[in-house]
Amino acid sequence: MSLESQIISILKTIVDPLSKVDIVTKDIVQGLQVTKDGRVSFILDINAEYMNDGLALKEKAESLLSELPEVSSVHIALTAQRQQPAHNPSKQGIPGIKHIIAVASGKGGVGKSTTAVNLACGLNSLGLKVGILDADVYGPSIPRLLGVNQRPTSDDGKTMNPIAAHGLKCMSMGFMMDETTAAIWRGPMVQSAFNQMLRQVNWGELDVLVIDLPPGTGDVQLTLAQTVLLSGAIIVSTPQDLALIDARRGLEMFVKVNIPVLGLIENMSYFLCPHCNSRCDIFEHGGVRKQALSMGIPLLAEIPLHMSIRETSEKGTPIVNQTPSSSEALLYKELAKTVWNNLTAPSI
Ligand SMILES: Nc1ncnc2c1ncn2[C@@H]1O[C@H](COP(=O)(O)OP(=O)(O)OP(=O)(O)O)[C@@H](O)[C@H]1O
Ligand SMILES: [Mg+2]
Repeated sequence: MSLESQIISILKTIVDPLSKVDIVTKDIVQGLQVTKDGRVSFILDINAEYMNDGLALKEKAESLLSELPEVSSVHIALTAQRQQPAHNPSKQGIPGIKHIIAVASGKGGVGKSTTAVNLACGLNSLGLKVGILDADVYGPSIPRLLGVNQRPTSDDGKTMNPIAAHGLKCMSMGFMMDETTAAIWRGPMVQSAFNQMLRQVNWGELDVLVIDLPPGTGDVQLTLAQTVLLSGAIIVSTPQDLALIDARRGLEMFVKVNIPVLGLIENMSYFLCPHCNSRCDIFEHGGVRKQALSMGIPLLAEIPLHMSIRETSEKGTPIVNQTPSSSEALLYKELAKTVWNNLTAPSI
């Protein structure tokens, strides 16, 4: 019997506790690869709600397969199947907008806004109609990142027209007041400003509205979680332990309020030298990958720390549009494809 057949028969002895069917027949085992020197890798595609079962299945498969003398290593990735947003009548979508996604982080300064803008441009480069809403009323950064600073117009005195920039429809509190004014706002004002920017804007028809959240788990996140029908949230983290602890907290908040987490992004994943283009893992690269694996949540992208990303951000010309064929732009476009595929994948 070939090593692959032996592996399959062993995996067939492991039963999914939910369906009581073995994990091969149930298609939980996916993408099995066995190299000539005995390295085994595959994915366990489990249901996000049953993460603990998934971890147990993974451990069992690892220990059984490691007993085979021909097997030199076993690498199993857990991925969680996409959850449907829980039905909650108090949560509302926005007419004309197909998907609303939030870009969040547990910690400030990890690159949420930079990622949100370039993800939005990446989605737009796929031919999609995309909007971006800067929900950071305390420190709006979308006006700077998109190089726009004009007041939105209103045709009827009730609703605002979003600003068009770089192929996106944008709205930010920064268009209406300077950052120092916003900084003294208190909870209820923040919530009502956020609601207005979300619902009293003529977004028109959009495939995706990307919401750039402030860091942490404050008033805006709460309003969003309680009132908006989100297709999913994306968590951005840098690889350091401290950022990861906060990212986990952010992630747990979304899980608690039944918002599907589309995945994690490791930003500033490694340093790419602008002179020689050599790579240096300044922080412990791969921390987010490990976190994602252990929680069964997809790792959507690993974006390097690169001068060109910061420079284009400061100039208000997102790298995806400024140098669309650069390797960094291609990473964002790849991310956009992954996110879009995830949003439009048939639900289970
Ligand atoms: N991959 C990257 N490479 C280089 N610079 C980056 C990268 N990502 C973000 N930056 C820079 O890091 C700084 C912080 O980024 P950004 O404002 O996007 O973070 P944030 O998480 O939105 O912050 P805040 O929590 O304040 O909203 C900016 O100067 C930005 O240009
Ligand atoms: Mg920000």
